[in-house]
Amino acid sequence: MERQVALVTGASSGIGWATARALAAGGFRVAVTARRQHRLDRLLAEIVETGAEAAAFPADLGRPEDRERLVAAVRRHWGRIDLLVNNAGFGHYGPTAEIPWDLADRMLAVNIEAVVHLTRLVLPEMLARNSGHIINVASVAGDLVVPPSVLYSATKAFVQAFSEGLDRELRGTGVRVSVVNPGPVRTEFARVSAGLSAEAPAELEQGIPPEQVAAVIVSLLRRPRKRAYVPWYWGAAPWVALLFGWAIDRLFWVWERYRLKPVREIGRPERPA
Ligand SMILES: NC(=O)c1ccc[n+]([C@@H]2O[C@H](COP(=O)([O-])OP(=O)(O)OC[C@H]3O[C@@H](n4cnc5c(N)ncnc54)[C@H](OP(=O)(O)O)[C@@H]3O)[C@@H](O)[C@H]2O)c1
Repeated sequence: MERQVALVTGASSGIGWATARALAAGGFRVAVTARRQHRLDRLLAEIVETGAEAAAFPADLGRPEDRERLVAAVRRHWGRIDLLVNNAGFGHYGPTAEIPWDLADRMLAVNIEAVVHLTRLVLPEMLARNSGHIINVASVAGDLVVPPSVLYSATKAFVQAFSEGLDRELRGTGVRVSVVNPGPVRTEFARVSAGLSAEAPAELEQGIPPEQVAAVIVSLLRRPRKRAYVPWYWGAAPWVALLFGWAIDRLFWVWERYRLKPVREIGRPERPA
């Protein structure tokens, strides 16, 4: 049987990198994308060394024309896309009024627009074949929207709502949609959110290893589910938001003061003046 093709966005680091490796180990031909070509080349070398098939398609997912080029290039290369993992995304720690508009605009384009656009680009092919899976990486931040990353969290709330609604819309077809909501994961995410270079020392990294999220993504292929939390106990997040939203309103400052303020202070020196 022909091997299935997975397209993984945001594969140059963190969750996307680990997911591409896990899917390749699971027998997929893996198309990886991100902006940093040198990272994709390194990932490719690691995957090919294991005997699996992979190909890199660098793209800036903030740009609609890059998304179209990306999907066309993967189809030219392997003729099909069976699995789309919409993982690329980034955050920013800061008050909403102070985020430079070009950064906010790019966040909306990568975290929301690219998810919708890439989904629309692969969906007709999947529906025609009556099989396929779209897995979107959102976050528990989509359930617990607290400062100082309100805009980021709201983008993830969108991804949760879009994924769950689309899965409902596609019931009765062979196409499944799942949304994965990780808690904190040890990746470059916090450095980028704090305004540091992704290549800066990893002092802000905390949480579970990205491989744990990748393992859950792979498990969704064997046993498709509408939503998954990683680790599982973050599944309490929507209930906490519903039942204790009033308490979050009063108590988020504790989180802000003890966890996020130091994170922002570490980020400050490298920020442009
Ligand atoms: N880490 C966490 O605590 C956490 C928790 C919950 C959810 N998440 C979500 O998990 C996903 C992966 O994040 P991560 O933790 O693995 O962070 P990461 O290590 O910073 O990876 C982010 C990935 O997104 C790519 N990306 C960013 N902007 C892009 C653009 N304009 N075009 C193409 N690719 C772009 C980056 O590649 P280039 O820079 O090379 O383009 C990188 O590969 C994100 O959607 C994030 O919101 C993370």
